[in-house]
Amino acid sequence: VSNRTRPLHVIFDTDIGSDVDDALALALLLGSPEVELLGITSVYGDTLLRARIASRLIALAAGQRAIPCIPGSQDTLTGRDIWWAGHEGSTMDDLQTEPTRDESAIGFLIRHAGDRQDLHVISTAPLTNLARAIQADPGLPQRVASLTVMGGAFGPTGDGRPEHNFASDPEAADIVIRSGIPLVLTGLEITRQLTMAQSEVDQITAAGPLGAALGREIDQWWKFNGEQWNVPHDPVAVLTLLTPELFSFEPKALEVDVAGAAPGTSRAASDPSASSRVVTGLDTSRVAEAIVERIIRAGTGPARG
Ligand code: RIB
Ligand code: CA
Repeated sequence: VSNRTRPLHVIFDTDIGSDVDDALALALLLGSPEVELLGITSVYGDTLLRARIASRLIALAAGQRAIPCIPGSQDTLTGRDIWWAGHEGSTMDDLQTEPTRDESAIGFLIRHAGDRQDLHVISTAPLTNLARAIQADPGLPQRVASLTVMGGAFGPTGDGRPEHNFASDPEAADIVIRSGIPLVLTGLEITRQLTMAQSEVDQITAAGPLGAALGREIDQWWKFNGEQWNVPHDPVAVLTLLTPELFSFEPKALEVDVAGAAPGTSRAASDPSASSRVVTGLDTSRVAEAIVERIIRAGTGPARG
């Protein structure tokens, strides 16, 4: 944990509920004492359901917190099909009772960027909300301290397909990339260097009601994929903001294809004057430890002393 004295003001923009890694990223944020979570904005598909899932996980965490969960854009900028796993919310009872905030997610992002020059936005999902916020307020990129993104692929990833968040709304990724916002990107070639398996899951599942709920979500995702492991894409990206000392970064000029055979395909070229930085390496064992440690803290509460 860094020796920062002032809290990091964070808005977390997420497609929580499909891949379990967004839920793990939210728990990681909740277990990070240096973070003041101003709100959660959901995106992509049934965003009311996604906001309710976030609200439930926050309610299960140790400690009392009132963090607004705001349903955001359901569609993509050009109406591309939404990928929906079908299991979203199904490990949680009575989700319709979870409170969500009746406010525009785009307006929420713009309002907080206006209030604070120290707003850090984290996006682990298609970039639709962020692109719409920039379209509505072209000055927004100059008023946020940083935008941390899990998205894109900037090196060999194995299957050669474009990354899901960029491919789901490439037009949104393009708007964000071109906006000049201080962007830190973690691509698939970085996140796929880590996996979570049974030993990590056993530790997380034992961490209070939140840990148990995450355990059910992980189990669901593993069964969906027919695997006994998952890649913690989104938690890795969150840690690039919280523990940058565990990563290396390079300023790079970015491009994303919005047309052609594989929209969402991304490229990065070294450019010392670029406003974007791309993660180029990480300390895999310390990142893996930090993910589990912080999620456990979210479930069990801070060590006091
Ligand atoms: O490609 C990985 C990304 O797609 C992650 O954000 C995961 O949660 C899914 O949204
Ligand atoms: Ca995600």
